[in-house]
Amino acid sequence: MSDPLSQHTDYGQLPLNDADVLDDPLEQFRLWLANATDSHVSEPNAMVLSTVDAEGSPSSRTVLLRAIDTAGFEFFTNYSSIKGRELLANPAAALVFPWYAIHRQVLVQGTARPVAAALSDQYFATRPRGSQIAAHASEQSQPIASRALLEQRVTEIEEEFEGSDVPRPDDWGGFVIEPHTIEFWQGRSSRLHDRVRFVRAASGGWERMRLQP
Ligand SMILES: Cc1cc2nc3c(=O)[nH]c(=O)nc-3n(C[C@H](O)[C@H](O)[C@H](O)COP(=O)(O)O)c2cc1C
Repeated sequence: MSDPLSQHTDYGQLPLNDADVLDDPLEQFRLWLANATDSHVSEPNAMVLSTVDAEGSPSSRTVLLRAIDTAGFEFFTNYSSIKGRELLANPAAALVFPWYAIHRQVLVQGTARPVAAALSDQYFATRPRGSQIAAHASEQSQPIASRALLEQRVTEIEEEFEGSDVPRPDDWGGFVIEPHTIEFWQGRSSRLHDRVRFVRAASGGWERMRLQP
């Protein structure tokens, strides 16, 4: 078996030419997300979200992108979870879309804010009933004595809402990450990768630069 720690993948010749990058980085992101989807990247909307705690210590986890609009990148979670509490106290956030299979990554830095309650209600209503029940049963990121206890809570919640719609829990909803930096990384041969970075200008537009690999 080959040693995964000594692998050297050749990232190939697909370039990210300046002339081909769209002026609006959110539009460029949509294009790359479509490419990742067409290339059968597994869960192309999975993104690694980093937050920081009160001591400045960072932590990361995967969440799923559920919408992109002019404001930014939306995902849904429990507001009382570790990430939820950290973002409510300090909105600084970073995202990584790790599309290894196509030798690309997109990096985002930005500011998180909760979405309107009506939007969270709307999205919660589209979730499978099992996920809705789970959102009530799980106090995300809190310790629990056993799996059995969690499953018992699920049974109790199922009984509570039997025959009726499951309402959105008060502490469950969306965040939008409003980006101030978006970087597109395209792997190239001999580690001479292409990096095109957009930084939000004071005018509200985007400044664009090429970074050394
Ligand atoms: C592929 C994948 C997708 C995930 N999507 C979400 C998501 O959209 N929302 C969420 O709250 N957790 C999601 N999770 C679970 C989180 O990674 C994490 O375990 C959970 O949110 C608790 O994080 P926290 O304790 O840091 O707040 C996902 C995990 C994986 C592996």
